[in-house]
Amino acid sequence: MWRPPERIKYTASGGTWPSAAEAAASRLFSPVRVGKLQLAQRTWVPAMVPWRASEDGFVTPEVLEWYECFARGRPGAIVVEATGIRDVPSGPLLRAGHDRFLPGLRDLVRVVREASGGQTKLFIQLIDFLSIRRRPVPSRYFGQFLAITAQHRAAFGDPSASDSDVRTWLLSLAPEEAAKVLDERELDALEFGARERVTDTHLDHIRDLPIHLPGLFSAASRRACEAGFDGIELHFAHAYTMASFLSRSNTRADGYGGVIADRVKLPLEVYSRVRQEVGPDYVVGCRFLADECIDGGSNSDDAVYFGTEFARAGMDFLSLSRGGKFDDAKQPKVGDAAYPYTGRSGYECMPSYYSDAAGPFGRNLEPTARIRAAVREAGFATPVVVAGGIHSFEQAESCLAAERADIIGFARQALADPDWFRKVVGGCGSQVRLCLYTNYCEALDQRHRQVTCELWDREALDEPGVKKSADGKRRLTPPVWRP
Ligand SMILES: Cc1cc2nc3c(=O)[nH]c(=O)nc-3n(C[C@H](O)[C@H](O)[C@H](O)COP(=O)(O)O)c2cc1C
Ligand code: SF4
Repeated sequence: MWRPPERIKYTASGGTWPSAAEAAASRLFSPVRVGKLQLAQRTWVPAMVPWRASEDGFVTPEVLEWYECFARGRPGAIVVEATGIRDVPSGPLLRAGHDRFLPGLRDLVRVVREASGGQTKLFIQLIDFLSIRRRPVPSRYFGQFLAITAQHRAAFGDPSASDSDVRTWLLSLAPEEAAKVLDERELDALEFGARERVTDTHLDHIRDLPIHLPGLFSAASRRACEAGFDGIELHFAHAYTMASFLSRSNTRADGYGGVIADRVKLPLEVYSRVRQEVGPDYVVGCRFLADECIDGGSNSDDAVYFGTEFARAGMDFLSLSRGGKFDDAKQPKVGDAAYPYTGRSGYECMPSYYSDAAGPFGRNLEPTARIRAAVREAGFATPVVVAGGIHSFEQAESCLAAERADIIGFARQALADPDWFRKVVGGCGSQVRLCLYTNYCEALDQRHRQVTCELWDREALDEPGVKKSADGKRRLTPPVWRP
């Protein structure tokens, strides 16, 4: 993962933990309205993909155990990992693209209700993503994937040369010579793996995204509702389709790109179809970026506009993330796919303990506060969720006191210790297992391996009933906290 060149080392600190009485009187543990629902506390576990679904996208016993652990901590809300809205193979990622996924999703809702004693509200993050291929071996790229064009033939010096002659010639070139013959996209496909963009409007299925996506999102939302989830988080963040529509890099000329009012059009159309499908009382919000953190990308001025428009449209919550883009991702090894959390924007999304002067704890607070202030100024009370390096009660409480956000997201901290919420509210904060922000979990995510936390995955491995990861070396769930 990319790290700031300053490489200043930071250590998370629990600070002063509250007594049970202080916690009970705190803002963090006070209720908050989210649409027609009330969260019992202002704590939130943002979406985290644990790579535990079946290869065909179903809920597995391991998925249930993962969410059961978070639910036992009784946070205000949990957002279930990014879940695909299409019925297409996408590896061990959850899917909601067909009714056959409903029974598993219902089980998931039941498990969370039971484990949290009905206290935790459960949302599901709905995602669409475009296709990305692994970085190819040059021989396969030139021999098979590259579509031979007139430009390649011209560079070869024979406009009527056969594809096979041009391919053989391209393969014989030194990499720097081949790079001169390829255009920008072809070179990118060779060096990183071919990746579709929302601007590829010469491809029918990309051109027609505005026709198909509202229906796909609304059908998946109907399933989420039928499965019993309390609400939906539309994934408009990071490297995926909807964030790409919002991005300044979206130059589509069909009314869905270019100026900011056109870039927000499809996200608003998606929201409106979803709202039509689930009715006025069901909670629907979105996660989007306070800043894309890439050159030429959308920044917090754009996010202020998006946030205000989403609130105006009637969204029930706004959850702010940052970065996490393909545009500045590291070159993958041959045979691997690019991963959108390996560049500077990836660092901004999941900042780790080596940082710059700003540090890894709360990098998203300032822009989130700006967006929230603009939403309030426009007359909307929509609750705003912030995440990024928050691990202590004092941090969370001071953020709420300063009205920078309304709800605090704890992703990696909740992974390190899913009982954080129960411990802190009960006056047992000193027993919290603090996240180290080393991003061991994120490295597992990158390799699509079952996600665990280094703080608990080797602990008491011989305990009866401990389930292990596929490599047999790690426990899949944290040790149970017995107060
Ligand atoms: C293993 C892992 C998986 C993640 N998966 C998702 C995801 O599915 N959707 C999403 O919006 N963010 C995802 N994130 C980002 C987190 O939700 C969160 O924004 C980020 O980790 C920063 O918050 P934190 O500092 O509290 O961890 C993931 C993070 C981790 C560590
Ligand atoms: S592996 Fe655990 S300690 Fe390390 S960053 Fe992830 S959650 Fe934190």
